[in-house]
Amino acid sequence: MLVNARDIIGGYGAIRIVNGVSFTLEAGETLALLGRNGVGKTTLLRTLMGLADRFSGTLEIDGQPVAARDPRKLARLGVTFVPDNRGVFARLTVAENIELARGCAYAETPVDVYALFPDLATRRDQPAGTLSGGQQQQVAIARALSVGPRLLIIDELSQGLQPSIVQSLTQALIEVTRQHGLALILVDQNPQLAMQICTKVMVMQRGEVVAEGASATLANDKSFLDLLIV
Ligand SMILES: Nc1ncnc2c1ncn2[C@@H]1O[C@H](COP(=O)(O)OP(=O)(O)O)[C@@H](O)[C@H]1O
Ligand SMILES: [Mg+2]
Repeated sequence: MLVNARDIIGGYGAIRIVNGVSFTLEAGETLALLGRNGVGKTTLLRTLMGLADRFSGTLEIDGQPVAARDPRKLARLGVTFVPDNRGVFARLTVAENIELARGCAYAETPVDVYALFPDLATRRDQPAGTLSGGQQQQVAIARALSVGPRLLIIDELSQGLQPSIVQSLTQALIEVTRQHGLALILVDQNPQLAMQICTKVMVMQRGEVVAEGASATLANDKSFLDLLIV
């Protein structure tokens, strides 16, 4: 088992946002994390990554316990995170953004990110801050993939991006997760998109998981989809 999260309670300072979330993920499995705005998706991801407070609960990656605030250990275990603001270094070039991550490479043979995103190959020397939003998302994902992770976590893949670039990001993620046996946790406002990329789905409400199952089954289930209506 790659990820084993048990009874995670987390939030910020004294504020409890995530109210006891448990889930597991096998190597190579892909999970869409859905739910309306403000239900605690970002806080759950940040709590798992050690970027928000974990008040209780346990996280194991590949059977190894990870303490509440230990992002370095997560990196060593092959877990990478693309935050909802993408976290691209605006003044560094595309190549510099990607090279930075290679310093903490997990796999010996990382993903060939320029083959995956040919757009970036022609823009290696361009400052990342001068790219379009979609290209910056490609840089953020390329940087995460260039460490050769076993688990990629992406918060808000398609937010604010035009449909054509969303489609190419979708294809790239489907391809890279299959080819590299890469596990994925994906948050997106578009449930159809997230369930197209991920085989499993989990829905949150008020900091708790209220539904989960196979995307293929739930993508057409009306009562399930009603949980997602804003
Ligand atoms: N830094 C923070 N400090 C306190 N509360 C926060 C902070 N960030 C988010 N929240 C609150 O946590 C709740 C869940 O937010 P979030 O995890 O961002 O939800 P989602 O990603 O599902 O939209 C919201 O009520 C939000 O106001
Ligand atoms: Mg969020």
